[in-house]
Amino acid sequence: MRKKITVIGAGNVGATCAFRIAEGNYADVVVLDIVDGLPQGKALDMLQAAPIVGSDMLITGTNSYQDTAGSDIVIITSGLPRKPGMSRDDLVQTNAKIVREVTENVMAHSPDCMIIVVCNPLDAMVQMALHVSGLPRERVFGQSGVLDSGRMRAFIAAELNVSVEDVHACVLGGHGDTMVPVTRLCTVGGVPLGELMAQEKIDAIVQRTINGGAEIVGLLKTGSAFYAPGTAAAQMAEAVIKDRKKILPCAVRLDGEYGISGVVVGVPVKLGSSGIEQVFELNLTDTERSALAASAGAVRGLLGVMGLSGC
Ligand code: NAI
Ligand code: 2OP
Repeated sequence: MRKKITVIGAGNVGATCAFRIAEGNYADVVVLDIVDGLPQGKALDMLQAAPIVGSDMLITGTNSYQDTAGSDIVIITSGLPRKPGMSRDDLVQTNAKIVREVTENVMAHSPDCMIIVVCNPLDAMVQMALHVSGLPRERVFGQSGVLDSGRMRAFIAAELNVSVEDVHACVLGGHGDTMVPVTRLCTVGGVPLGELMAQEKIDAIVQRTINGGAEIVGLLKTGSAFYAPGTAAAQMAEAVIKDRKKILPCAVRLDGEYGISGVVVGVPVKLGSSGIEQVFELNLTDTERSALAASAGAVRGLLGVMGLSGC
């Protein structure tokens, strides 16, 4: 029997993610939104694209959680995106309410699902979904590092004129201004980045990566990035559905790893059919470790705003 993935939110990120899942033949897809007709219309459009891209997946749109029942994975993209001048953290109050309500509905209909959170502020929203669902951290995690390291890989590949496939980038921490690109662990064809690029170029790429979301918000003016974020969430779903055991940076609650407990931040994990099957603890320098701790501190600050204190 085919697997079932529900995408909550038929906006820019949700629709992109749903289409990538269908296109990849990973699972049947249900798209849910509160706006009448929006998920139905987008799902019908995707269904009509299926023969063209060679997908046999069933794609349906709905406003009712009953249609999401028995989902294997639920991807939560419902929430406001930021506008120019806003930080991701400015979204916390509004999106926390949405994630709380959505998670309650999801759990009522798919108690055995795995949840991938995408809406912002990402790490805090994962924490809210963990709290409301009561699921273990292996089954509730967030998309940020695949996007942030993808951005960094794209910038490095363009600068060195090499294939993106040969670039490995390491970005840890929260999905925000405190994220921690660890350039010491970035490699191109196995060669450390520092041997291939001047430090000032590396520094510029680090800044552009940290500012990656804001750069796009500034250009779009009415919303935020969606092609790369939607694709990143679909890649995580694929790793689970196909039991790929891929090592991907994901937002996960740390339970003592890196000296951090009870806070969600991005670190490399092994993703397979059981969800997060292993949290990788990199050997960081004192400076890198302090930067990660500071990033976790920023996430912890948002937990207080939401009335959560680590879960
Ligand atoms: P969007 O505005 O295009 O779509 C959001 C959708 O959610 C809308 O269609 C809206 O009707 C729906 N929605 C709102 N409340 C809902 C509810 N209670 N139940 C079901 N649906 C509901 O926004 P976009 O661009 O798709 O972004 C979605 C979220 O993802 C934002 O919070 C954004 O900041 C975040 N994001 C996160 C990224 C990451 O790397 N983690 C990257 C890009 C965006
Ligand atoms: C991004 O990084 C807004 O979080 C979103 O593009």
